[in-house]
Amino acid sequence: MSEETIKSALSNVTYPGFTKDIVAFGFVKDIAIAGNDVTITIDITSSAPEVAAQITEEAQKELQKVGISNAVIQIKAPQMPRESSSHGKNIAPQVKNFVMVSSGKGGVGKSTSSVNLAIALAMQGKKVGLLDADIYGPNVPRMLGLEGVKPQIEGNKVLPLKAYGIEMMSMGSLTDEGQSLIWRGAMVMKAIEQFLRDILWSELDCLVIDMPPGTGDAQLTLAQSVPVTAGITVTTPQMVSLDDSRRSLDMFKKLNIPIAGIIENMSGFIASDTGVEYDIFGKGTTEPIAKEFNTSIIAEIPIEPAVRIGGDEGKPIVYVAPDSETAKRYMKAAEAIWNTIEKINEEGGVDNQAIQPTTPPGVSACSTGAH
Ligand SMILES: Nc1ncnc2c1ncn2[C@@H]1O[C@H](COP(=O)(O)OP(=O)(O)OP(=O)(O)O)[C@@H](O)[C@H]1O
Ligand SMILES: [Mg+2]
Repeated sequence: MSEETIKSALSNVTYPGFTKDIVAFGFVKDIAIAGNDVTITIDITSSAPEVAAQITEEAQKELQKVGISNAVIQIKAPQMPRESSSHGKNIAPQVKNFVMVSSGKGGVGKSTSSVNLAIALAMQGKKVGLLDADIYGPNVPRMLGLEGVKPQIEGNKVLPLKAYGIEMMSMGSLTDEGQSLIWRGAMVMKAIEQFLRDILWSELDCLVIDMPPGTGDAQLTLAQSVPVTAGITVTTPQMVSLDDSRRSLDMFKKLNIPIAGIIENMSGFIASDTGVEYDIFGKGTTEPIAKEFNTSIIAEIPIEPAVRIGGDEGKPIVYVAPDSETAKRYMKAAEAIWNTIEKINEEGGVDNQAIQPTTPPGVSACSTGAH
């Protein structure tokens, strides 16, 4: 019985909602072996309570396979069903709310949605920031017309850029100097943490975070670094995209992040001459998934040349064509998101996350410490 054996057994336990295992994620904090007694400490801050039970069960199963049947597994889990901005870990305390824009599949319109929703929120009077958390494929700078614009450095911090009434930071905007500040760790997790801690965001009502596609390090790091107020999933009504969006919604659930809604992008086509709306991928395919997760479709955004051109040329449709049908839909979605945020902050949760802070059997809950 060695630490190595135990670690390799535990590396067969995948983290619920993700494809990576708990060892690779760095959740296994301590393995203590004293004679025949084994105590394993696993830290899963920011997760739903049932996740602890599932991990414990699977860890015991894997340990039994290598002949360890008496291990004590201590799970450090959050005590609150959902930690509002006033509780828990927040490495960007000047930001009141964090909205995570995610999708299971790439290219469905996360960045386009993030940009337009962030600006819509700002147009509605909120103080808004937009963090491009797509470390390897940052394209928010272009979408905001900020390509090639470099931020100012203050000491060892970086000032966010500004456009269309919002603050923004992206890997694509950093100078060599800035890049070396952020890039020290050369890891996605480190970069995300630094984007939150080392960017001089103002006092923001809301930071919209444009995620890379999928469920991986970036998503998990974000959830563990700040109390994510709400999640939004972007999907297209094609069946393949919907399967992926289910995964993205499930991830929110496993991370205990309330779901503010689904943006159905490329939802149909509005003929510019007649204004008639045509379905391309079929209507009504997203609705069942929204129901399944007790959430709703907060916008159906049509495929529209103006949306793509707005992105390519740095002229977001919500700002440059506020009277267009698409801009109005983004504005309505932004209102819906804000209403949900307020509800979450008042009541500490929305229906799709009505989970009570129970300690699953066989799990010894510790309070969440710094890690
Ligand atoms: N409603 C729309 N109408 C027309 N073009 C769109 C629409 N939404 C997005 N696009 C275009 O589709 C492409 C992909 O969009 P976007 O970059 O927002 O997707 P993404 O989900 O962020 O992709 P990635 O996973 O690579 O980050 C872009 O060229 C964008 O301009
Ligand atoms: Mg993107």
